[in-house]
Amino acid sequence: MKVTVVGAGAVGTTCADNIARKQICDELVLVDIKEGYAEGKAMDLNQTAQIEGFDTTIVGTTGDYTKTAGSTVAVVTSGIPRKPGMTRAELIGINAGIVKDVTSNILKHSPDCIFIIISNPMDTMTYLTLKSTGLPKNRVIGMGGILDSARFRYRISEAMNCSPNDLQATVIGGHGDKTMIPLTRLSTYGGLPIGNFLSEEEMKEVAGKTMVGGATLTGLLGTSAWYAPGAAGAMLTEAIVRDEKKIMPCCVALDGEYGESDICIGVPVVIGKNGWEKIVDYKLNDEEKGLFKASAEAVRTMNESLKELDVL
Ligand code: LAC
Repeated sequence: MKVTVVGAGAVGTTCADNIARKQICDELVLVDIKEGYAEGKAMDLNQTAQIEGFDTTIVGTTGDYTKTAGSTVAVVTSGIPRKPGMTRAELIGINAGIVKDVTSNILKHSPDCIFIIISNPMDTMTYLTLKSTGLPKNRVIGMGGILDSARFRYRISEAMNCSPNDLQATVIGGHGDKTMIPLTRLSTYGGLPIGNFLSEEEMKEVAGKTMVGGATLTGLLGTSAWYAPGAAGAMLTEAIVRDEKKIMPCCVALDGEYGESDICIGVPVVIGKNGWEKIVDYKLNDEEKGLFKASAEAVRTMNESLKELDVL
């Protein structure tokens, strides 16, 4: 079992670190364009093997995609991250070309691989990967909803002074500060609606903090976050490799589900060895449907710029 992570920056390396500790593959290939960088990160990670007790071998390479041959999963984190004050959408001009190039190089050597896209703007990069590779839709998955939902649970747990592990809470829609939809109505604590414990106002505040979760961190760190994005990428990789059949909110191609088509956007899906295997219908109410429609429109507008950039 081999997994590739493209991009040895903070998100890619954190993702690789988490994957190695999970003991889910024999070999993990880390690719970067910066000379010696992936090799160095791989060496450092390999030197944690005895301390952490894992057997995965990490291989680093400066752009030699032959080393990635036969990967089951490829996680794409390449591209530039946000700086304070930037939106994820502003990264499109640089990241679209990088993501198109990386995914085509991976496919040459791993024709059966499943793609996990983390590069931003993630919904559009997922759509670009789907269209430019021509892969079956189940093999292209954008990672944003798992991260946003983890942030949502964190904010609910903070407001309720409870364990995030006792919460079920999902964020759907686009992975943007204005496009994501924290599903407060459907969030539960020990199986009970969180509305039993929090006021309308508190729930609004929790949802608001969730939506600007990435921007808040970018403001504090001067660049975008990596621990939770990397861990979420590893969680998704594990669900595929172990064929877990877990429900995770992911960015996938819709074909009429949730009232949308010709778009990749976040909805709850079942993840297993075939990638995303089915879409789960959360039976949104009219208000949530309206928010989802508006979110899809914003993502679609962003996708339009792929044509102007001449990458699609
Ligand atoms: C974030 C970036 C990874 O939300 O999109 O932190």
